[in-house]
Amino acid sequence: MSARHFLTLFDFTAAELRQVLERARELKTALKAGEVQAPLPRKTMAMIFEKSSTRTRVSFETGMAQLGGTSLFLSPRDTHLDRGEPVEDTARVMSRMVDVIVIRANSHAMVERFAQHSRVPVINALTDMHHPCQLLADIQTWIEHRGPVAGKTAAWVGDGNNVCHSWMEAAVQFDFHLSIATPKGYKPDAELLKACATHVTLMHDPKKAVDGADVVVTDTWASMGQEKEKTKRLKAFKGYTVTTRLMQRAKPDALFMHCLPAYRGLEVAAEVLDGPQSVVWDEAENRLHAQKALLEFLLA
Ligand code: CP
Ligand code: NVA
Repeated sequence: MSARHFLTLFDFTAAELRQVLERARELKTALKAGEVQAPLPRKTMAMIFEKSSTRTRVSFETGMAQLGGTSLFLSPRDTHLDRGEPVEDTARVMSRMVDVIVIRANSHAMVERFAQHSRVPVINALTDMHHPCQLLADIQTWIEHRGPVAGKTAAWVGDGNNVCHSWMEAAVQFDFHLSIATPKGYKPDAELLKACATHVTLMHDPKKAVDGADVVVTDTWASMGQEKEKTKRLKAFKGYTVTTRLMQRAKPDALFMHCLPAYRGLEVAAEVLDGPQSVVWDEAENRLHAQKALLEFLLA
């Protein structure tokens, strides 16, 4: 019962994360060259999704097919989870049948409980607390465009949310600095801030966070599940839009990143998202390559 899981970036060592990203680069090159790399024949991946997804679902399903395996997608309607079958029982049963389980859940605690009772690797495909798969793709993209990231600086502007938390862990694991600017009531998790204190600085002024940064990153102001807070949040985040003017405070060759979906005119100006510094489409594509490398690492 000691399967390796990937619930946060702290579940892997820094060396393992680098190994996964190096393999992601190789798999991307191979795919573009038309080479077939299918190290996971007959492996089966179950995907339990409690929330919507475009990128994560499509990249995992496509990736597993390219690796030679198969996948099954389970929405809340498709299992007994929503009708009261315990998470623990579901984990025990499913992990006797499939080889890996990918979960997008409302609560991080649910994924932890699932993993504790699973015989096979569990991958976090986004929870309220973390989005580690996103960061594999983001760091792959950053390296692709600008080389090694150690010693560099990223600026997070906006909500101290799940994606922000994974950027914080990435700062520690890949040894770069992360300056975070959030409105006062929207700070990242206090415990995680302490755990990442060597590599993360929290402030409230977006201009200060972005000054001299190599990368500027943001995300929606209202994550999935926070739809009812939208009006309140729009007010609280006034002044936190990543505009061309804000980008001008970063390094001249700074990249703009966003996990998507993006809301033009809210967290980011359209001209930044669609502009020359934006690498958001590469980030989205790299979800495919990075997660293929992750699946291979856990299963091959
Ligand atoms: N970035 C991301 O995880 O997108 P989806 O919600 O579309 O999967
Ligand atoms: N923070 C966003 C990320 C979406 C990929 C959310 O949780 O909805």
